[in-house]
Amino acid sequence: MNMKICVLPGDGIGPEIITQALRVLSALDLNFELTEAPVGGAGYRALGHPLPESTLRLARQSDAILFGAVGDFSLDTLPRELRPEQAILGLRKALNLFANFRPALVYPELVQASSLRPEVVAGLDILIIRELTGDIYFGQPRGIRVLENGEREGFDTMRYSESEIRRVAHVGFQAAAKRGGRLCSVDKANVLDTMQLWREVVSAVGREYPGVELSHMYVDNCAMQLLKNPKQFDVIVTGNMFGDILSDEASMLTGSIGMLPSASLNEHKFGLYEPIHGSAPDIAGQDIANPLATILSAAMMLRYTFNEAGSAERIEAAVRKVLAQGFRTSDIFEPGTRQVGTRAMGDAVLAVL
Ligand code: IPM
Ligand code: MG
Repeated sequence: MNMKICVLPGDGIGPEIITQALRVLSALDLNFELTEAPVGGAGYRALGHPLPESTLRLARQSDAILFGAVGDFSLDTLPRELRPEQAILGLRKALNLFANFRPALVYPELVQASSLRPEVVAGLDILIIRELTGDIYFGQPRGIRVLENGEREGFDTMRYSESEIRRVAHVGFQAAAKRGGRLCSVDKANVLDTMQLWREVVSAVGREYPGVELSHMYVDNCAMQLLKNPKQFDVIVTGNMFGDILSDEASMLTGSIGMLPSASLNEHKFGLYEPIHGSAPDIAGQDIANPLATILSAAMMLRYTFNEAGSAERIEAAVRKVLAQGFRTSDIFEPGTRQVGTRAMGDAVLAVL
């Protein structure tokens, strides 16, 4: 199979970490066709838009997107529709990438990196499935209007249709069935009508999956439980806004946001794969960023879009091996380990492969 991958490095550390992921991919015996395009701040600078028409076209013509990161402080004063973040929001919406997989896995070697006690996080392996194309992120109407008294008022609309809830619920149940068999649906049904519907629809879908144990949790309680006893969770399914917040929280349980990959999929397994961390402009170009989240995102791409589970496992095993060998970028460094830069971390993974 010829795999058509659209490579979107983006801003900040994006290009450096993508370079390492591409080196790892090319070490595998697979057939890739790579095309690269500017996105985010780089898209704005090159072509006047964070998601240039030509970049979106290229993305549509490929089977998967390998994405670095977008974000550039110096462009934050632009109108919202031209800010770098619009690239990722635009790709999600245009390509219907409604199912966002955000695993939070604690590697035994990095247990100490968590700010929680080792016994709370050791062995942690949770998967957050975040709905990605609906909710208050995209709901209309939204805006800032002037009230009769002359005061301005900002407003956004939280909304979910039954079909939007149903399709992501199916993804959640199917993922749970393949893992520990437990799905926790997170909502705010005690306050929000949208979330009452969410709970009803998820429960109805659950009747089709008798083998999966479904529970429901309010989002505030979930935020607390993630810190108190994170290992109670297997798969969490939740809406766009809550998933944004909970997935950042869950990432920190693992100690480093520099280790976590993600996949955003549509119903045809087309996917956008990206590290969950941002563009970190403060350390860009210094060869110190951790490339492992991007390398692991490439592994997710092989697994989910290209059905190459074997190759994905090879990459994941190689990452575990380099951690066991003591290689660390500065974000996960501890005394007694070996501090390396971005490229040297890529070298270490390649050496194992
Ligand atoms: C994420 C990010 C994005 C989001 C931003 C950059 C628009 O925080 O992928 O979680 O809010 O979804
Ligand atoms: Mg976020």
